[in-house]
Amino acid sequence: MRSLTGTAVHDGLRNGYGYLAHLICVIALCGLASGVQAQGSAGPYVPTPWPIVDELLKLADIRKDDFLIDLGSGDGRLVITAARRYGASGMGIDIQAPLVKLATEGAAREGVSGRVRFLQADIFESDLSKASIVTIYLLPSIMDKLVPKLVKDLKPGTRIVSHDYPLEGMQYDRVLSFEFPEKVEISGTPRTVLYHYIVPAR
Ligand SMILES: C[S@@+](CC[C@H](N)C(=O)[O-])C[C@H]1O[C@@H](n2cnc3c(N)ncnc32)[C@H](O)[C@@H]1O
Repeated sequence: MRSLTGTAVHDGLRNGYGYLAHLICVIALCGLASGVQAQGSAGPYVPTPWPIVDELLKLADIRKDDFLIDLGSGDGRLVITAARRYGASGMGIDIQAPLVKLATEGAAREGVSGRVRFLQADIFESDLSKASIVTIYLLPSIMDKLVPKLVKDLKPGTRIVSHDYPLEGMQYDRVLSFEFPEKVEISGTPRTVLYHYIVPAR
């Protein structure tokens, strides 16, 4: 088991999201606590902590020629970091319009608008076929519904990284687990698991 500290890594991107992202996160956590979620929601907005963004993109072995789709993209941090740091392209899909706006503004601020875009849509009604990498941080209860969609849409060889929850009925080829103190307030435990899959040949 790897161990990460909860110390934030500061760079322009991280500071750029600032207060608004924090406020949205707090509101989302309140929504989670009270059971309030948007209609059609596969989970409330809870951002992946920054050190885990780094681990996740490394596990996906992201490269310049990749196209990453984040299912439920929140403030866009995975897609924007993939573009800014690795030169990749990508798309984020989120059901909540304010988050799509926040992510679009973040992409502009980070100078990656030409390579990424954010759509307000339901992931179950979106075409995912362009992805070479798919990232997921959604409720475990929707994982069984998500698998048929992934199998139908994604090309063989597409990498999938799921944060904390495995995909029902799919065999992962790598798994990374570590303790991350910041996760306690999100999921009640510091344990963080990243599952890596490769879509098999049909
Ligand atoms: C746990 S957050 C993850 C945010 C981001 N992927 C990250 O890792 O920082 C889940 C996100 O999925 C979005 N979401 C939930 N159900 C969705 C759906 N059916 N279609 C699109 N987005 C959805 C929520 O609005 C929320 O922003």
